[in-house]
Amino acid sequence: MQHDEQVRLIRRALALIAAGDSERGEATLSPVARYLDPARFEREREHVICRHPVAVCPSAQLARPGDTLAVDLAGLPVLLVRGEGGELRGFVNACRHRGARLLDAGEHSKRVLICPYHSWSYRLDGTLAGRPHAADFAHAPPGQCALARVAVGESLGLVWVVPRVLAPDESAVLDLRAHLGRFAQDLRHWGYDLWVPFHQRSFTNAANWKIPFEGNLETYHFQYAHRDSIAPLFHDNLLIADHDGDHQRLLLPKRSMAGLRDQDPAQWDIGRHSNIIYFFFPATFILHEGDHANLFSVWPEAVDRSTVRAITLIPELPATEKARAHWRKNVDSFWGALDEDFALGVSCQSTLASGANTHWHFGRTECSAARFHAAVERLSGLTIG
Ligand code: FES
Ligand SMILES: [Fe+2]
Repeated sequence: MQHDEQVRLIRRALALIAAGDSERGEATLSPVARYLDPARFEREREHVICRHPVAVCPSAQLARPGDTLAVDLAGLPVLLVRGEGGELRGFVNACRHRGARLLDAGEHSKRVLICPYHSWSYRLDGTLAGRPHAADFAHAPPGQCALARVAVGESLGLVWVVPRVLAPDESAVLDLRAHLGRFAQDLRHWGYDLWVPFHQRSFTNAANWKIPFEGNLETYHFQYAHRDSIAPLFHDNLLIADHDGDHQRLLLPKRSMAGLRDQDPAQWDIGRHSNIIYFFFPATFILHEGDHANLFSVWPEAVDRSTVRAITLIPELPATEKARAHWRKNVDSFWGALDEDFALGVSCQSTLASGANTHWHFGRTECSAARFHAAVERLSGLTIG
């Protein structure tokens, strides 16, 4: 983040801290159908998740030509492939013969992609390279048998994917600079394009895909849900929120920020006295922690189930055991708090069908979740109830 922007944000924070106040928006109701209705879920998947880039993995995970990653994203089997010239491409992990998956889930290194069923083979650019008894397939010329494509791009040290099969005439290139907007400039300024993964984790979460974002777009819960982990570091129920289109940025000042009042603003460094949440709509959450970042994306599987893919990015890989232990401690601290959040989200999902609530109640400092829901519903063509 540019220094003048840091100063503006810190001044906002100091004024609120001094007044014991918070920014506030509208209080809202959130109907339980948002988390239970399969038809609504399908609209969200089609119009929101399958139309926008979401972060999948670190670019460094696919560093060399031939590196591939097979991964299911929101129900679509995707194959990410680093080509001979260094370009990253996305394909559907489905053979054009009879649909077998070309590669099992996980990482591989390949010069050619060979289907395990009847051995149709594909180059790293997805074109058909060969097939046994080719003369029997005059009705399926090679030019029509390239792998189906998926749009991918790289930015902020991450691979981003739109999990939708492209039509033959559609571009597979994502304009991530335009999509990620001005908040990505903050992260570029901190060097994210060169940051590398220290830790990765993926797990199934028994809750609607939107619930983890609701939980991470407010600080109202900090003093209670995180009383034994991060609560002492942060102020109670303090919201300092900005948005850029449907993307959001939340500043979480640490208690140490108050000491900046006595310092020359030219020396202020926001990263030492806060965490900053970057929520790139629709499903990528980045927690900037000054000198590193923890992030996760949520991939819907069903109305009440998702896959979470999480990454810790650091400026450079640790060279010593001491450095490794330092980052390990940071990862453990992050997941100490995030496991509490995910568990509570699952708890909330588990009561939805009980009939106890027709709506959930979002207070005025929980308005960032309401902004998120409004964007989802606008794009899905759903009414906000
Ligand atoms: S399904 Fe792939 S070669 Fe037959
Ligand atoms: Fe939390």
